[in-house]
Amino acid sequence: MARFILSVILIWFLNACSQAQTGNNMKALMTKLFITDGYNKEVRPSLNQSEPLRVDLDLFLVAVNGIDEVGQKLITTGFVDIYWKDEYLQWAPATYGDLSTIYVSQDKIWKPDISLQNGFKKLDELGNGFIKVIIEKDGMLRWSPFEIFETKCDINIEKFPFDEQTCDIIFVVWSYSISEVKISKGLKGINFYNFKGNGEWKVVSTSATVDSSAETRVKFSLTVRRIPTFYLINVIAPIVLLAVLNIFTFALPVDCGEKMSYSITVFLSFAVFLSIVSSTLPKTAGSILEFYLMFQLGMGTIVVIVTAVELRLHFRSKPVPKWLQVVFTLSFIKYMRSKKNVGCSDNNTQNDSATMNGEVIKKERTHADSIELTWPDIIARVDMILFWVLLVAVIIMTLIIYLLLTN
Ligand SMILES: *[C@@H]1O[C@H](CO)[C@@H](O)[C@H](O)[C@H]1NC(C)=O
Repeated sequence: MARFILSVILIWFLNACSQAQTGNNMKALMTKLFITDGYNKEVRPSLNQSEPLRVDLDLFLVAVNGIDEVGQKLITTGFVDIYWKDEYLQWAPATYGDLSTIYVSQDKIWKPDISLQNGFKKLDELGNGFIKVIIEKDGMLRWSPFEIFETKCDINIEKFPFDEQTCDIIFVVWSYSISEVKISKGLKGINFYNFKGNGEWKVVSTSATVDSSAETRVKFSLTVRRIPTFYLINVIAPIVLLAVLNIFTFALPVDCGEKMSYSITVFLSFAVFLSIVSSTLPKTAGSILEFYLMFQLGMGTIVVIVTAVELRLHFRSKPVPKWLQVVFTLSFIKYMRSKKNVGCSDNNTQNDSATMNGEVIKKERTHADSIELTWPDIIARVDMILFWVLLVAVIIMTLIIYLLLTN
């Protein structure tokens, strides 16, 4: 039974083909439409010229190629499906061997002068002579110029890399007034055709609006959201880690001399990293992330300066001023009592003297509140305060920036 149905369909199909038009039918129709009837592509194809011609427009996106933050540019690949009725291109198919569709190069017929209004290149016609227009027997036309659209777009990178951009692709009927050519849009916003996703941008929503005030135009809006993973891994995570390393400068004791080189090393790696990062960031000002980078750079500078001052004070021979002693004694009396002397064991003699010194201080402290603080004592306290204060500051700052970026 199935074979029978199949062969019937096959026979019917072959019949349909044999009935099809010949090349001569095609030539005759072309001669009739474009020579005998005297088609003039300057004439708007309405028999009654006081009635506006309706043009339907649909945008199909094939790819979002990217957003150029510096050039404030959206680059997309796609085509516009444009439909209208040409009342001079109608024929009776029976006369031409049932010929119901013809393909004509877009240069041969009248077209509405639709152009990209917010493009980067000069106002130019869509498509080119290579693109064919499909014409049906009743004069309905379909023209699908394929283009790479470069459109102006206001890029706001305040929330980079968690930003969302809304860009418009605007088509305008340039010369004809609204009473001559009336443009309308399809039901959906932007359609997708074999759409290829973009590695950096994800399409969130689309919309389309017709504005028929002075000139007729259709505005297609595209909202895209950046996929932040790349920047999280390659920019934000290293910065946060370097900030943590930076704070650990204050976990090192002063007297081994490593502290300074450690803080400088962290600062340098941060500076080198910044120059790498700046090449991946949008080169426009105003992002919160930039502010965070500046904050971290500032922290790095402060850490280096404080370390330098601490080193200088460490080897100071003058005794600690009275007021400083009072401040540190008042605030750290408890901590001081349980304090163990931390030093760098470069050689035995230094180590011995340090522990001896510690024991001496401990003994003295057991029965006296008036303690003689040395510079290394003060520096150890300052280190401890700065370590915790900066750690909390970095954590709070990172959280605030994260919340600001993602909301
Ligand atoms: C042309 O269209 C206008 C507006 O619709 C109408 O008033 C006029 O009668 C039409 N003319 C002809 C010749 O059909």
